[in-house]
Amino acid sequence: MNSKISTPSRRTFVGGVAMSTAFLTTPGLFAEELTKTPSMTEGPFYPEKFPRDTDNDLLVINDSITSAVGTIVHLTGKILTPTGKPVRNAVVEAWQVDNKGAYLHKDGDGGKGRDRNFQGFGRFLTNSKGEYYFRTIKPVPYPGRTPHIHFRVVKGKQRLLSTQCFIKGERLNERDGLLRSIRNKKQRDSLIVDFKPLKGSKIGELQANFDMVLSKTPAEPKSKKMKLRKDQNAQWLAPLVENLYVKNFERRLGIITVNPVHGQNEILIVGSEKGIAKAIEIIQNWTA
Ligand SMILES: [Fe+2]
Repeated sequence: MNSKISTPSRRTFVGGVAMSTAFLTTPGLFAEELTKTPSMTEGPFYPEKFPRDTDNDLLVINDSITSAVGTIVHLTGKILTPTGKPVRNAVVEAWQVDNKGAYLHKDGDGGKGRDRNFQGFGRFLTNSKGEYYFRTIKPVPYPGRTPHIHFRVVKGKQRLLSTQCFIKGERLNERDGLLRSIRNKKQRDSLIVDFKPLKGSKIGELQANFDMVLSKTPAEPKSKKMKLRKDQNAQWLAPLVENLYVKNFERRLGIITVNPVHGQNEILIVGSEKGIAKAIEIIQNWTA
């Protein structure tokens, strides 16, 4: 097991460049102006099995030298309370189709095959400003749906929001039954995002910003940081622990999330006190 966990050469991608440039210019909003992000179905295509890599770069799986096909999108946003306060340490999960319209799901293949290099699903832990960042591709339509990206926001054991974001100007938006089912125009519009050209990009990359406003302020869950050995990679280890073990305890101990701490060889475990203790025990046994 140990050799598998030690992958110090594994590239970590947390997107310092994009986060620190022009993306973070959210206009100043008064609290009363914030439109709550409507929740939408997760649909049937949440991954049945997580990919080997669940970081926030959906273009590249682990150390692969081949990246996914599609128009590159730098997707940023904030998780906010109803009054506009940033929600830190929330896990933002994003999943979507590849350039052929296929999800990471056995029933989610549109019939045109699959781009094996597309990660299809990723996670990001919001920073102290409530920000998240993904590098992905512009989603394409699949039968019955206009292009969209799915999101789930979790903090500790609280499921905060499941929703979808859409592309402004996409002609299929008008005919998308799920999008149209949101009757409140302000709320519906809040899901439709401008995918605009990234300034200076020579390869036609796009940028999009999607802020999510929760309908209530989440409680601050218990959390604990755990230092790893230098040769143990947090980006790689955290999703593995979560996928293989911690999920099994969901019913008894609540949802536990195990997240790499950005830029450090540390993981943050969020959940109930018992859940955290159990996760630490698992990780210690596993990495000993
Ligand atoms: Fe979908």
